[in-house]
Amino acid sequence: MTKIPSVLFVCLGNICRSPMAEAAFRHALDTRGLTALVDSAGTGGWHAGDAPDPRGIRIAAAHGVDISDLRARQVHSSDFNDFDYILAMDEQNLANLRAAQPAGSSAKVSRLLDHVDGRQGQSVADPYYGGEAGFAQTWADVTAGAEALLDALTNDTA
Ligand code: 4NP
Repeated sequence: MTKIPSVLFVCLGNICRSPMAEAAFRHALDTRGLTALVDSAGTGGWHAGDAPDPRGIRIAAAHGVDISDLRARQVHSSDFNDFDYILAMDEQNLANLRAAQPAGSSAKVSRLLDHVDGRQGQSVADPYYGGEAGFAQTWADVTAGAEALLDALTNDTA
């Protein structure tokens, strides 16, 4: 079986979007009988050590994925060599990652939705200050991104 590259999902706080993206990608791997190194992190460190937002935990659980054990952490410079792909949720995360990427490091940095046909350049909106409906939209977006990313990784077109 081909080895799936390692992937790191990144948002601002690592409590809403990126843990949900990690969950959606793990779910996509499980469904296809694949395994890979997968993690998530935030460009900011304010929520380091915190569990995912309860609204995100609930919606992931409703789709059969338990993310209650995840704990937030900030992006490290070593991540740019430890992961093959780093997926930003939005434009600001992407700019911060590009600014932080050490020269000569190997990770390929892109927006998650760049991997979805017709959604290049789009962001996964931050649901933190909204209601449950925003988290349902986040789940739909990160699932579309995770499935398309895994398609591209398994076809070697990412
Ligand atoms: P996330 O959402 O980046 O999707 O985890 C946020 C979580 C917390 C904050 C902002 C966004 N905050 O400002 O504390």
